Amino acid sequence: MALDDIIQELKFRVKIEDVVSSYNIQLKRSSRNLVGLCPFHGEKTPSFNLYPENNSFYCFGCHAGGDVITFIRKMENLDYVDAVKLLAQRYNIDIPESTKDKGLSNLRNRIYEANKEAARYFHRKLYTQEGQNALNYLKGRGLTEQTIKHFGLGYSTSITYDLTSYLNDKGFKNTELIQANLSFESRSGRIVDRFIDRIMFPIMDLRGNVIAFGGRIMTDQKPKYLNTSDTPVFKKSNNCFALSFAKNSKDGYLILAEGYMDVIALHQAGFESAIATLGTALTKEQAILLKRYTDDIVLCYDSDDAGQNATMRAIPILRDVGLNVRVINIPNGKDPDEFLKTNGENGHIKFKQLIEKSGNDIEYRLQKLKNKLDLDSPDGKVAYLTQVSKLLATFDSEIEIDVYARKIAAELSVAPYSIIQQIDKYKQKDYKTKIQQQRNKNNMEVLVVNDSINPDKKTHLMASNAEEQIISCIINNPDIAGSIISKFPPEKFITSFNKKIYECIVRRFNDKKEFSVMDISGEFSNDENSRIIKIVHNYNKNCNPYEICNDCINVIDKENDKIAFSGDNLSNKSEEDVQKYIDRLKKQKK
Ligand code: GTP
Ligand code: MN
Repeated sequence: MALDDIIQELKFRVKIEDVVSSYNIQLKRSSRNLVGLCPFHGEKTPSFNLYPENNSFYCFGCHAGGDVITFIRKMENLDYVDAVKLLAQRYNIDIPESTKDKGLSNLRNRIYEANKEAARYFHRKLYTQEGQNALNYLKGRGLTEQTIKHFGLGYSTSITYDLTSYLNDKGFKNTELIQANLSFESRSGRIVDRFIDRIMFPIMDLRGNVIAFGGRIMTDQKPKYLNTSDTPVFKKSNNCFALSFAKNSKDGYLILAEGYMDVIALHQAGFESAIATLGTALTKEQAILLKRYTDDIVLCYDSDDAGQNATMRAIPILRDVGLNVRVINIPNGKDPDEFLKTNGENGHIKFKQLIEKSGNDIEYRLQKLKNKLDLDSPDGKVAYLTQVSKLLATFDSEIEIDVYARKIAAELSVAPYSIIQQIDKYKQKDYKTKIQQQRNKNNMEVLVVNDSINPDKKTHLMASNAEEQIISCIINNPDIAGSIISKFPPEKFITSFNKKIYECIVRRFNDKKEFSVMDISGEFSNDENSRIIKIVHNYNKNCNPYEICNDCINVIDKENDKIAFSGDNLSNKSEEDVQKYIDRLKKQKK
């Protein structure tokens, strides 16, 4: 089956709502469409729209959009061919081996391959003479043979070019190894290993590809951990450690810990929903990623100051994408790994109790505020109430606000009304800035400043709007394509991006192929597809598409005239042409 045949088969079988719901996105019906929380920008009120009629989506919050294949491209960070393959697999459609990838996909596949070979190599090394220390280290930290295998832990030896030469022998070029960040060029010009004499933690993506490594030194030297830098297949801020395992857990929540060792110890103790960020503070991208798999996060960072500060920073990031948060307090300043080790056999039960006892993030934040202030003094009380009001004002749920306002009022023996009034004040302020921000954004859109997708739009606003209507009419009514195309060739399109879309439609029409959004999305980038969907859905079903197209053609013709007969271009026009142009203008005036 050729790629195009696969697309036709997918068009027939795929329902975008099924694909989207498989990512833990709850959808609600809204007239003919479906809406949910956008998985691309993270939000608490839904602006993510699905259009089952043509298997497309568009988010009015972040303007991400596209057909169902673009959705997979964006969600899974795949290129077009790989996204089609993934969808085809899910729908049991045969894909021939010969559907070869090209360009970036090729480099990325080489990096996946190199990483896989590297992970195997590191793992094998643990069981050699050179790796004996490393294996003892891991066992000394309480890891079982099974855990070491499960996580594919390994050892990078102290020979500076060990892995590089091994992978060279396997046919990997130095340029590929450097791009994978497995090797680098030393000052002497020699290509050497990036990881030397370290315990290796492979990091996998959700499909089980090894995308990066963390390497821990076994001594007190710095840096303690060395991580793969960003590569074509890896972005630190977009991935989590062990999510490929945790996503299958049936616990219903994800446990977010700080370090690799915490996660591994938790899994060994039976908590398979444990994950960690990769040596950085939690990012919004990671929160959005987690929201795909759960609605509930149990935070269990280290109980030292750094861990507690990180907790305070993580809470709003998680809440802002609609996740519920609970916070575990590990007693005696320990991290989860140490806690489990201290409790030995009872580790599982004890940690389970911590989860059950964990309060939600609001209680946690209130407690933190309380600890900082003296609530017995009037000043302390006022400061506490002020900060509490500010905190509660950031919540969307009126119920949540009411419950906590009453609880706090009772605790401090003040009237609930005074707290609620204060919250309202902060809320209003917040609301005003939000409205202003939205207004500024809207103004920007009207002015079309810096349209990176279609830069010509700025100078040819009328024409580009007309072009977009033609595109929208044709895609929504394929039947009229023939008559429009026959009288309006792509050369007449003025703005580059719209021309590219129209050319694609015309080419497919001439080849007797279909040109729905799903048929053409492979020729465009994700951002371009977002724009195409915006154009396609900006369509009024109650108008006659044929008439609209004719009006638009007139608008574009006029604009073309204007360009052709503008000062710069006038010199190479014959007198006759100029006269014809003037006649046309006169006719329009009438
Ligand atoms: P152990 O000390 O072996 O128990 O590891 P840990 O996982 O408990 O590490 P720790 O609590 O010290 O740090 C938490 C996480 O931060 C680690 O798992 C790493 O991802 C990251 N990290 C720690 N030290 C460094 C460092 O020196 N450089 C970088 N890039 N990341 C680090
Ligand atoms: Mn630790």
